[in-house]
Amino acid sequence: MSTAYLDGNFAPLAEIRIPALDRGFLFGDAVYEVVPAYGGSLFRLDQHLLRLENSLNAVRIDNPHSRGQWSRLLGELVERNGGGDQAVYVQVTRGVAPRDHAFPPDAVPTVFAMSRGMSARERPRPLRAITLEDIRWLRCDIKSTSLLPNVLLRQQAIDAGADECILLRSGFATEGAATNVFVVRDGVVSTPPHGSLLLPGITRDLVVEVATEAGVTVREEDVSESDLRGAAEIWVTSSTKEVVPVGELDGQQVGSGAPGPVWDRVWSLFQDYKRRPGA
Ligand code: PDD
Repeated sequence: MSTAYLDGNFAPLAEIRIPALDRGFLFGDAVYEVVPAYGGSLFRLDQHLLRLENSLNAVRIDNPHSRGQWSRLLGELVERNGGGDQAVYVQVTRGVAPRDHAFPPDAVPTVFAMSRGMSARERPRPLRAITLEDIRWLRCDIKSTSLLPNVLLRQQAIDAGADECILLRSGFATEGAATNVFVVRDGVVSTPPHGSLLLPGITRDLVVEVATEAGVTVREEDVSESDLRGAAEIWVTSSTKEVVPVGELDGQQVGSGAPGPVWDRVWSLFQDYKRRPGA
């Protein structure tokens, strides 16, 4: 049984109870993070905590903890769950209050965290993806738990026999249902730039960093639908998936359908980075 955390206490996950009037439950009035841990150490924690701070500020929930407190709390959760490789989920809601859309004057934010084990990484198999219209709101940079559009889009992909969708808004790729997207054309890697239409992925940013450092040309630029369809390689990234090649888009092979050479290099760079002491 895994150990979870709620408002100051650690307890078995199955015993955690959230009040029905919690605004996270009623309105999706909450933000969250998913932080990977490798070998018992939280990975890119500063970046995740900064994004959490940005999400909280954007929705006007006071950050209930300092960075040091967050670090201790999440570190203890990883430890209590036996260390190793884990995916830590943390959510902050606006708190418990009588149901009213307007902010309650004195609700105290609810803090919930849980963790699950991640199996050791093998080379991933290429995914099947389909393109779908991005039906989400205009603040996708906020890591909000209001994920109904993402849920519906991912399920549409699953129903079509695919693993993930790549979302298009006004003819440009934004991201996946729970991933960022990269394309490779003529050896050059492109990924849509930060902005309000996509989540500033921690894995995305790290891929840009390690690839650039290794001399791969990476451009943060708009990726049109035709760039996507003409790409030699497509990858998706997230904290739980890392960097995964897409082998098929809308039933058409991407390149040879097998993981491409640029992905191969970047995946190795990513794996090396993970094992660096202090990474
Ligand atoms: N999701 N875009 C969206 C919409 C996401 O939900 C995620 C991650 C990403 C990738 O971000 P990062 O590299 O920081 O994990 C991009 C998490 C894993 C989830 O909802 O489970």
